[in-house]
This record gives sequence, C-alpha cells and structure tokens, in this order.
Amino acid sequence: MSKVVLITGCSSGIGLATAVFLSKKGSRVYASVRDFGKKDNLVAAAEKENASVEILQLDVTDDESVTNAVEQVIAKEGRIDVLINNAGYGLMGPAETVTIEQAKDEFEVNFFGLLRVTQAVLPCMRKQKSGHIINVSSIAGIKAMPTSDLYNASKFAVEGLTEAMAPTMALAGIRMSLIEPGPVATQFNKGSMKVGERMKGVELYKKVTEKMIANRNKRFRDAQKPEEIAALINEAVTAEKPHLRYQTSDWVRNAAGEKLKELTGDQLVKFYVDMLK
Ligand SMILES: NC(=O)c1ccc[n+]([C@@H]2O[C@H](COP(=O)([O-])OP(=O)(O)OC[C@H]3O[C@@H](n4cnc5c(N)ncnc54)[C@H](OP(=O)(O)O)[C@@H]3O)[C@@H](O)[C@H]2O)c1
Repeated sequence: MSKVVLITGCSSGIGLATAVFLSKKGSRVYASVRDFGKKDNLVAAAEKENASVEILQLDVTDDESVTNAVEQVIAKEGRIDVLINNAGYGLMGPAETVTIEQAKDEFEVNFFGLLRVTQAVLPCMRKQKSGHIINVSSIAGIKAMPTSDLYNASKFAVEGLTEAMAPTMALAGIRMSLIEPGPVATQFNKGSMKVGERMKGVELYKKVTEKMIANRNKRFRDAQKPEEIAALINEAVTAEKPHLRYQTSDWVRNAAGEKLKELTGDQLVKFYVDMLK
C-alpha cells in the first residue's frame, strides 16, 4: 500500500524535491507551503516530472494552519503514515548580534514549528499504532561552527528532541528519524538566510563573520543537490526498520565522527580559533 506522507516547507529546496521524488516513487504526497502564493515552483516541478502532489497551506508557526492541514489529510486518507518536518531557515551571526526576537523566531520555526506539527499528527499515528516522523536536521545539529550560533542551537534542539522521543514512540509503533545534510544547493544559503541585526560595528564580529562567510561560500561550492537528499529521505520512508540518523554524505559522516570522538571539545575550539585568527 502506498504511504500517505505530509511534508512541510515545499515551496523550494529539499521539501520541493522530496515531494516530487516521493510521489514518483509511489507515495501519496501532501506537500505543504507556508504561503499558497509561493506554490508555483512546486506545481511546475511536479508537472515536469509527471508527479501527482496534493498542495496544502501550512505555516508551522500557526496552530490553526497546522490543525487544518493535518485534518485535511486525515479527512481524505483516514491516516498519515509519514510526517517530514522539513521547514526551516538559517539565522547567522555571533550570538550577541542577534536580537532576542530574531532568536525566538529561529526557534519558533525550526524547533517549536516542528514540535507543533509533530504533536498534531501523533494522535492519528498512535491510533494507527504506526507511523514515521522524519526531522530534517543538519550537520549543524551535531557540530557547531562560529556565527551559526542560533541556527546550531535550534538544530541541536531538534536532535535532542528526536533522540529523546524515539524509544517512547517506538513502543507506540512510531519510528523517528533525523536527516543530517551538509551544504545543499537551495534557497537556504541565498534568499531565506537571515543575519543578526545588532552590534554590526564590533570589529571582532565583523572579522569573524567575514571569514565564516568566505568559509561557507567555499563549502557551498560542493553542495549536494536537493534531489540527493530526497533520494535518501525516500530510503528512510521505505525502510522496514529506519535508522534514527541518516547523514547525507561522506563529508557529513567525517565531520560528525570527528566531533563525537573528541570528547573534551578542545580540538574543535582550537581548529576554529586558528582559522579565525
Ligand atoms: N540547504 C542546506 O545547506 C541545508 C543543510 C542542512 C539542513 N538544511 C535544512 O533543510 C531544511 C529545508 O531547507 P532548504 O535547504 O530546502 O531551504 P529553502 O529552499 O529555503 O526551503 C525552506 C522551506 O522552509 C519553508 N518555511 C520557512 N518558514 C516556514 C514556516 N513558518 N512554515 C512553513 N514553512 C516554512 C520555506 O517556505 P517559504 O518559501 O515560504 O519561506 C521553504 O519552503 C531546513 O530545515 C534546513 O535547516 C538545509
């Protein structure tokens, strides 16, 4: 039986590619966009690939919008097999340069938004005694880097939540997975990224930010395509026993491995201090 899949953040990037890919592989895809006015790229991509995708409006920060979208899927299908929490954005800048409102908004989308949609689908999945929640995390959820302070914090929170939930949910027949990409060529590093609005005149922050922007642009030269991430997500969706964690490339596996085997964290700090001097 084909799986009923609800995905957040499908107006571009990984969400859009995943919606089209999963549909082509036989899932019944409900692709949601925050703003219905921004569905054209998704419609065009689905048409081009001859993929059948149902488009819904869902803003992860809005209770009513989340409830409506989840109710629409259940009304049509009577079930939700897979939730893919993909919506998110990057907030860059050293912690002191970020306003509290900006920090709260980063968590409102990347963390509380994901929690809100998760809580909305769980009653249905618990009733079914089956389901799979796939949270799009990042290498930034495992290993932090300068100027990514609030984005790292939000993705560390996603990792902690997912890992903590996994055993309890397994007892209800519900699987939890994390997708951990490195750089992916989407709007993430272009239009949708936000930057800290305070303390821009502080010399230390200017210097560190410039170096990290150069470093990020270099890393994004080898960015993966969103379709590669979509294929890995499909692997998780169709696995009989999905993993808790899926790294999307060898680069991510190496970076994560380095972090996890260096328990004091001293080398990680030294590496960046030397880079930023
Ligand atoms: N690209 C990378 O290098 C990379 C690496 C690791 C992890 N990730 C993660 O991958 C996920 C997808 O990002 P992407 O790279 O595909 O970037 P993207 O092209 O900017 O897509 C982000 C999507 O999230 C949506 N979104 C933002 N706020 C939302 C809200 N309040 N409610 C619902 N949707 C919302 C955006 O909708 P709008 O168009 O309306 O803004 C857009 O559809 C994110 O969680 C990101 O952190 C990305």
